[in-house]
Amino acid sequence: MSLIKIIIGSTRPQRFGPQVAGWLNELAQELAGSAAEPVRFEILDLADLNLPLLDEPVPPAMNQYQNEHTKKLSSIVAEADGYLIVTPEYNNSIGGALKNALDYVFYEWNYKPVAYASYGSAAGGSRAVGHLRDVAGEMKMFDIREVVVISNYWNQLDANGKFVPSEDQIGAAKAMIEQLIFWTQEMKAPRAKLAAK
Ligand SMILES: Cc1cc2nc3c(=O)[nH]c(=O)nc-3n(C[C@H](O)[C@H](O)[C@H](O)COP(=O)(O)O)c2cc1C
Repeated sequence: MSLIKIIIGSTRPQRFGPQVAGWLNELAQELAGSAAEPVRFEILDLADLNLPLLDEPVPPAMNQYQNEHTKKLSSIVAEADGYLIVTPEYNNSIGGALKNALDYVFYEWNYKPVAYASYGSAAGGSRAVGHLRDVAGEMKMFDIREVVVISNYWNQLDANGKFVPSEDQIGAAKAMIEQLIFWTQEMKAPRAKLAAK
């Protein structure tokens, strides 16, 4: 059984991120049924973690965590085999809460596939995704090309404020999730080989 965590990358009150994560989670649960091997999706909301700004005395790549919140985050990240990061765009990049969470640990992210869904105004968060791809490379993650980009999402809210995805967005999300499931499952064996060394 593989586990993929859908990370909500914003933490502020009234944020839009949970709507995107909820929609993708529903779609992912459907697609998981036709995956080659069993796979499970789960939402990881950074707001629930309440992480302080990185406060470890030793850089994470040295793997000497001292704080309880870091050890907890370490096991939360480590148990996943892949990730789907849902990110807004803040000032042309990702938000501080997401970058902080990514910076906190290191080995736990390594050699795992990651896909992205972004939202924002005209650019739909695509500049944030570009920056995330740089970060993922440094953290030895394998990123998926297929992406979901939601521009001016406020034009797609129904009378109750619920996000209504377009056919194009649903198609893009399916393609992305299928790739993420495939590579998450394929990468498990090489990761196990590395761990055995
Ligand atoms: C600090 C801040 C900076 C923002 N900068 C951008 C930006 O550079 N590009 C963009 O498309 N939207 C930008 N926005 C608009 C956000 O994309 C929009 O408010 C979105 O809902 C934020 O995600 P959240 O609701 O999950 O926090 C910004 C919003 C905030 C709060």
